[in-house]
Amino acid sequence: MSPTTLSAVITVDGPSGSGKGTICRLLSQKLGWNLLDSGALYRLTALAARHHGVDLDDVEALQVLAAHLDVRFVASDTESEIQIFLEGEEVTKAIRAEDVGLDASKVAAIQPVRTALLSRQRDFAEQPGLIADGRDMGTVVFPDALLKIYLDASAEERAQRRYKQLIDKGVGASLEDILQDLRARDDRDMNRSASPLKPAEDAIRLDSTSMTIDEVLAAVLEEARHRGVR
Ligand code: DC
Repeated sequence: MSPTTLSAVITVDGPSGSGKGTICRLLSQKLGWNLLDSGALYRLTALAARHHGVDLDDVEALQVLAAHLDVRFVASDTESEIQIFLEGEEVTKAIRAEDVGLDASKVAAIQPVRTALLSRQRDFAEQPGLIADGRDMGTVVFPDALLKIYLDASAEERAQRRYKQLIDKGVGASLEDILQDLRARDDRDMNRSASPLKPAEDAIRLDSTSMTIDEVLAAVLEEARHRGVR
């Protein structure tokens, strides 16, 4: 039986910086549903490859790594962020590094890696429901989800958001470089043959370029309520 028949799933797909991560975290808190950050699994595979000296061209070794990833997602009472452990080591921050993101987008283009991570992602669909954040949540991983959102924003706005995040953290950054990296990643995510980033046919499309987080959240919750989510 497909796991999506066991519990309700809301999928949120879209490019980097569209606000998916924030919206998914808020939705999961508001509804009390589980959260799947599928991008973290690709980042973890990329980091595991680095730890084990596996080349990003070595498809077979990457597939084995992905299939046997020793990861734990731990909800903390004191911090809003979920702590992530790889082979017992806390890597919550390490997987967010720009270079790990870049490696993750290369690893994510390899179909055997995607296949190896499929059942692990579906296992997150537990009661009372799941908010699934990614690129192919509505198209491949949870095709019969209750609600599918495709969240987009202009590349300039997404780069600006990332730039602000880094400056707020005290990290020096160049807006121009961020925009260039973001376009390269979009290109790779949208034009790969394995599960490219695209809206599911039955997805509701939202453009967050000139919307606040609260407005996006309200729009998604309204769609969820239309589908009987309380
Ligand atoms: O959302 P993120 O930046 O953490 O994702 C890291 C990389 O993984 C990104 O290049 C897109 C890819 N990814 C994917 O191909 N499929 C997913 N479901 C989630 C992320």
